[in-house]
Amino acid sequence: MAKIHFIPDNYTVECKDGEDLQDICENNGIDLPFSCKNGVCGTCLCRVKEGTENLNPKTEQEEITLDTLGADNEQRLACQCKVLGDIKIDF
Ligand code: FES
Repeated sequence: MAKIHFIPDNYTVECKDGEDLQDICENNGIDLPFSCKNGVCGTCLCRVKEGTENLNPKTEQEEITLDTLGADNEQRLACQCKVLGDIKIDF
């Protein structure tokens, strides 16, 4: 089990290792918006404040979109993330 803390909501939820961050957000009413759900639009851009090592590596598509957005190393696309350990997310 991993714990995800959503800083804007001051809310912590537990999930199974490997669970999609998008599903966790949608199933818990987290106020992070999604649109394409394919790593293309950038709507779900979020900031991983702690535990970046506890997410899956970026996909090629995610790398392209993050580069286009000028994102820094803390930022990920939530629709492309699988949770592998404890993280803290801001958005
Ligand atoms: S919802 Fe479009 S990049 Fe995540």
